[in-house]
Amino acid sequence: MKVCIVYYSATGNTKMVAEAAAEATGADLVEVKDRAGYSKVMMYLKGAPKARRGEKAEIEPAVIDVAAYDVVAIGTPVWAFRPTPAANAIVAALENCEGKKGIAFATSGGAPGEALQNLARQIEERGMTVTGTFHISDTEIKKGERLDGLARLISTASGA
Ligand SMILES: Cc1cc2nc3c(=O)[nH]c(=O)nc-3n(C[C@H](O)[C@H](O)[C@H](O)COP(=O)(O)O)c2cc1C
Repeated sequence: MKVCIVYYSATGNTKMVAEAAAEATGADLVEVKDRAGYSKVMMYLKGAPKARRGEKAEIEPAVIDVAAYDVVAIGTPVWAFRPTPAANAIVAALENCEGKKGIAFATSGGAPGEALQNLARQIEERGMTVTGTFHISDTEIKKGERLDGLARLISTASGA
């Protein structure tokens, strides 16, 4: 089964989780950029309120065609207990995703709130079946703990 990991990462944590899983499973990686290009301060002043309101960012690439894949994992940092505006935009930007398996994953300081459930619901609303969700804290990432969690979910979804 072909697997694609699509993610947004502002400060590198989600990127690290996505890259570890891609290396372990052979999945393709798509890193999405938020065209707002927030500074750290603006992430809190502008980005977090947008996340709270469930808004979508303008992202690059603007269209993500997953026709070639059987499983699509979508990853986001948690902002204000929600998925980032970029992650909301990733789900909306998917093309040919209907009927495929989806995985939602998130990194956070430790209080993910409803970010994962929210992201999983959005993925399901695009006609995909969410087969698993994975959250990892910044402390765990720093210690290198549970970094194989996403790869395990991907392997289960691909029947490996
Ligand atoms: C604007 C902003 C809001 C955040 N809100 C939360 C939050 O609600 N709960 C939490 O546990 N961590 C929160 N964090 C911490 C990030 O989710 C965490 O550091 C994450 O791993 C960052 O991922 P990244 O390095 O891929 O951008 C927030 C960080 C930023 C910049």
